[in-house]
Amino acid sequence: EKVPVSMEINGKAYNLSLEPRVTLLDLLREQLNLTGTKKGCDHGQCGACTVHVNGQRINSCLTLAVMQEGKKITTIEGLAIGEQLHPVQEAFIKHDGFQCGYCTPGQIMSAVACLREGHAGSAAEIREFMSGNICRCGAYDNIVDAIMEVKQ
Ligand code: FES
Repeated sequence: EKVPVSMEINGKAYNLSLEPRVTLLDLLREQLNLTGTKKGCDHGQCGACTVHVNGQRINSCLTLAVMQEGKKITTIEGLAIGEQLHPVQEAFIKHDGFQCGYCTPGQIMSAVACLREGHAGSAAEIREFMSGNICRCGAYDNIVDAIMEVKQ
C-alpha cells in the first residue's frame, strides 16, 4: 500500500505516493530521474549515494524515502546556481578530483558537508571526514587538495 509523502528536493516541492520499502536513493534515481546521485554498493559502504537531508549528509541507500516527510533534500543537481557551479565543484575540476567520475557526486556532497561543518582544518581531518566515500581510481590526494583550496 502506498503512503503519501511530501518533501522538498533541490528547492522544489514534491507530493508523492510511495511504497514504504523504497529507499531515498531509488526514489531519486528511478522515480524522479535525478540520476546524479549514484548507486555503488546499495548498503552503506561506498558513499556514492551521499545527499544532504536538512543540511546533514546521509547515505541515501540506507534511508527510506517515506522517512523524508517534510524534509529538505539536496542532491548534486541542486548545488550549482544556474550555470554557476558550486565552489567545491569548481575546485574538483581544477584539482582533477576525479578520474572515472562515478564517486564524484557523493564525494562532492561530502566535501560540502566537510567544509560547512568545519572538518577541513587539516588534510588528516579532511581524510577522516571523507573516509566513507570510496574512490576506486584513488583520486584521494586531489580531492583533499580541492577541499583545502575551497577552505582558504
Ligand atoms: Fe549507498 Fe554505496 S550506494 S553507500
